[in-house]
Amino acid sequence: MRPPDSGTVAVALQDGADLDGFRHAVRGLAARQIPPDAVAWNTTGGSDLLGNEPLGDLPPDAPPVSVPRPIAELIQSVVCHRNPERYALLYTLVWRVLHGERAVLDVQSDPLVHRLELMRKAIRRDIHKMHAFLRFRETTDPDGGERYVAWFEPDHYILDAAAPFFVNRFRSLAWSILTPFGSLHWNRERLIPGPPAQRNDSPEGDAFEGAWRSYYESIFNPARVNPTAMRTEMPKKYWRNMPETRAIPEMVRSAQTRMREMVEREAAAPIKRDPVKAVAAMAQQTPQNLEALNRIIAASAPLTPGADRAVLGEGPLGAAIAFVGEQPGDEEDREGRPFVGPAGRLFDTALQQAGIDRAKAYVTNAVKHFKFEQRGKRRIHQKPTTSEVKHYRWWLVEELNFVRPRLVVALGGTAALALANKPVSVLRARGPAQFDGFAGYVTVHPSYLLRLPDETAKRAAYEQFCSDLARIRELAA
Ligand code: URA
Repeated sequence: MRPPDSGTVAVALQDGADLDGFRHAVRGLAARQIPPDAVAWNTTGGSDLLGNEPLGDLPPDAPPVSVPRPIAELIQSVVCHRNPERYALLYTLVWRVLHGERAVLDVQSDPLVHRLELMRKAIRRDIHKMHAFLRFRETTDPDGGERYVAWFEPDHYILDAAAPFFVNRFRSLAWSILTPFGSLHWNRERLIPGPPAQRNDSPEGDAFEGAWRSYYESIFNPARVNPTAMRTEMPKKYWRNMPETRAIPEMVRSAQTRMREMVEREAAAPIKRDPVKAVAAMAQQTPQNLEALNRIIAASAPLTPGADRAVLGEGPLGAAIAFVGEQPGDEEDREGRPFVGPAGRLFDTALQQAGIDRAKAYVTNAVKHFKFEQRGKRRIHQKPTTSEVKHYRWWLVEELNFVRPRLVVALGGTAALALANKPVSVLRARGPAQFDGFAGYVTVHPSYLLRLPDETAKRAAYEQFCSDLARIRELAA
């Protein structure tokens, strides 16, 4: 225990997002019962000029500090913020949690919680921008191999947090992301951290640019030109790194003419799907609205051949509830709409019984193409594999980010796997959940009800499903 009038303790952390350093320091501070206002956090790497007592080594008997998971997640995010006060604010939060306020995050009106939540939001937004606006350019390694290099200027220390997205999407390519705060190099097996970089360390333009631009022009909808909104969503500072943005001024100028031509042609231009590189570029392109995303999904080929089309989500933007199923079935594939087959009909009846208007909800699937095995004339549904679900997951998350429902409902295990990004036992997890920044709910898939062999069990399961829907309606109200 610390004597009451001891002075300030200095804690030195690494520049950037030093989560390990912060955790270690918290353990030492908590073991010595040092209150937040007696800590001076130093993140500049220099020595403490005020002569404060350094925290020193962790006492051998310092117990581990355990905080509720939502607090740990908040810490993980906020350490990436560039505000030099971040560690002091976070330690104040931890201190309060350790002193009995374990549910402090539930009090959104609490000034500290409010401030930290704003910081978390800024981090999420920065990560989203990096995923959306980072552009790789093709270069050659000293050994002659292909390497894709991107320069990006995030607002915060988000490089490590944003990197798994690029690893998942470009696992088989060698690439580097350079930022003023550090760099990361992927060698097809692991990520290697590197020092901060400068803009002119990255190449200016490559053979991809033509493909980027023609792709962007093909998804550009002249009827939707709103330069102010465009600049808000895609601030100009990112434009320099994005070849397609060079086409924007001309596209905006010619929007009216192009729209007239489009109306005359009656239909939107189909996306060109041919050259491999254009498709690779397309896969990286992050669309700016649901319509553009849907065009990309519609233009994508099924992972296993056979499906007639990609079945897109349907429902209004801003719907209070988004229902996510597994994948389209035979009828959905033929009609091009989700949940219109036998499971869909049962789903509609249950929705009605629970007082949910399907037209006001958003309904979609984790996987957008029907996967089946042909047996004679019948197409027999096949469950998507985990890697297939992961392949489509990025689209699903983007889709939900555009719809912004109040509650996302996983109908069955495949949807829960996609939304939670890990396997979920539906019967154990049934009920409220948290998915990637969305309030969620896990329940069974309507086709599970159809498959139950015994009528009594079927009725009971159906009633339970309807009670879930009633609860979902309340939670989303
Ligand atoms: N099952 C699903 O998961 N989705 C559909 O759209 C239809 C059946």
